[in-house]
Amino acid sequence: MSFTIAIDGPAAAGKGTISRAVAAHFGLAHLDTGLLYRAVGRAVLGGADPVEAARSLRAETLEDPALRTPEVAEAASRVAVIAEVRAALVDFQRAFAARAGGAVLDGRDIGTVICPGAQVKLFVTASPEVRARRRFDELTDRGIGSDYAQVLEDVRARDARDAGRSAAPLKPAPDAVILDTTDLSIADAVARAVAVIAAARGSVR
Ligand code: C5P
Repeated sequence: MSFTIAIDGPAAAGKGTISRAVAAHFGLAHLDTGLLYRAVGRAVLGGADPVEAARSLRAETLEDPALRTPEVAEAASRVAVIAEVRAALVDFQRAFAARAGGAVLDGRDIGTVICPGAQVKLFVTASPEVRARRRFDELTDRGIGSDYAQVLEDVRARDARDAGRSAAPLKPAPDAVILDTTDLSIADAVARAVAVIAAARGSVR
């Protein structure tokens, strides 16, 4: 049977880091579903129609490092409120989740909408201030100049848009394990995620 791990949570909570680490630990494929919305957002910044862009999305586009800028993140969260855009991206995500050998998908609605039957659901969160600090440090490391107050404002704006939309709003699935990383190191957060998944794998036959 396929083994699917759904990892959801707000921007910069540590989902990506945890997802990559657990995928490597358990030998599972990993899909960062934010990249799908970022690819659509980027196409829209270039003048494309969002629904058309979502319907014609190609997997190769997801490799583009240009998807990882704050402008594209903002554009992604704007296109992500459009129900037709979300609908156009469902099949790709479910096909990935169903691959033999199992998969880790991280995003906002994996445990609630895309893979409600996932064997493990984690909701990774942290305070807005800590998330803004992490995002600021990451941007600084990548040589992208930014301002902490602005990054915090962007984090709050994205949270409000992601949690407030009617199409697949950001929220934990009822059966998700909440992992608050506010006071955790990366190593501790990964260790907790690995422990939750190992316990679930042990009970999957
Ligand atoms: O995770 P990341 O920051 O790359 O996601 C960018 C934006 O894409 C999010 O702010 C959110 O609006 C949207 N998104 C979504 N559903 C997902 C993944 C991302 O709505 N599963």
